[in-house]
Amino acid sequence: MKKKTIAILFGGCSTEYPVSLQSAHAVITHLDRAKYNLVLLGITRDGRWLYYDGPADDIPADTWHQNTAHCTPALISPDRETHGLLLLAAAGPTVIRLDAAFPVLHGKNGEDGTVQGLLELAGIPVVGCGSLGSALCMDKDVAHRLAASAGLAVPRSALFHAWENPGLLSDLTAGLSLPLFVKPARSGSSFGITRVTDRTALPQAVATALEHDDKVIIEESIPGFEVGCAVLGTETLTVGRVDEIELTKGFFDYTEKYQLLTSKIHMPARISPKDEARVQEAAVTAYRALCCTGCARVDFFFTPEGTIVFNEINTIPGFTSHSRYPAMMAGVGLDFSALVNRLVEQAVGT
Ligand SMILES: Nc1ncnc2c1ncn2[C@@H]1O[C@H](COP(=O)(O)OP(=O)(O)O)[C@@H](O)[C@H]1O
Ligand SMILES: [Mg+2]
Repeated sequence: MKKKTIAILFGGCSTEYPVSLQSAHAVITHLDRAKYNLVLLGITRDGRWLYYDGPADDIPADTWHQNTAHCTPALISPDRETHGLLLLAAAGPTVIRLDAAFPVLHGKNGEDGTVQGLLELAGIPVVGCGSLGSALCMDKDVAHRLAASAGLAVPRSALFHAWENPGLLSDLTAGLSLPLFVKPARSGSSFGITRVTDRTALPQAVATALEHDDKVIIEESIPGFEVGCAVLGTETLTVGRVDEIELTKGFFDYTEKYQLLTSKIHMPARISPKDEARVQEAAVTAYRALCCTGCARVDFFFTPEGTIVFNEINTIPGFTSHSRYPAMMAGVGLDFSALVNRLVEQAVGT
């Protein structure tokens, strides 16, 4: 059988650039080279696109882009006849035809439908969600509205836009009880998020969120703990086990997410089989309501009364071998290698 050529996009013009480097390295080192030729396409923090043919280990070390002998400016051509990557080499342009592309990118300009839209224009199958699902899940306000319309509980919230008068904030949030979570509508890894326990701190929290997006969502805090559920597939879905985040202080911020200093992930979650089945069912409802395809991790709050409240969907969840999504899939018998190979197979066919 002829090997398929798969582009792995890594890095990204996003605050989550360093996270992508770790995820991409794990994906690159676990894909089956007997089946796939890998074409590595690095996107620098400031948004330069470079075809990279150097050592994979220089990716997580973030030294890959310093190795200029192994970096060639490149772009995905929207031209369907090219169906791939255009390398802008000094000797003249060359083409690498692609069978699929795996954007292992987190956050803005990668997980938000922009790159997926380019790949769709080019006619290149994409691993994970398409442009619609990616964009819907990236926007926490839109995601909440769709999840609510599918019958899921969501936190009570208010919206504030960059062009509105901050003087309106107290009126806008008067009906919401403290504490509040103030978040950029489109961000990730907890960037720009503040937990507000005193209303006088609201204007500063909103200003912080506005550094990341021009739309801010202000939510009531949901008591209890967070649970997540991995979902894989498009027509037929494979639903992973449910995990639980145990927090001992604050919230699941950037440091806690990647260092787990005071928090702990329990996989499976310490809930009854019946409650786990309810979370899995809610995850499928949210996945369908937000037009997800390929894969996504669906996150909820689980309240002391046992109510499942939708938080968000991550369409390109962390993909290191110790990340949450792979652990939840390993819980239903799909180990990390099987998972990443299945993701590519779903896009490109066997
Ligand atoms: N309404 C809420 N109630 C309680 N905790 C929240 C709420 N919203 C966010 N958090 C806390 O903040 C963290 C980050 O918020 P989240 O919406 O998941 O953004 P991100 O996309 O950055 O992960 C969550 O994991 C949780 O710990
Ligand atoms: Mg989150």
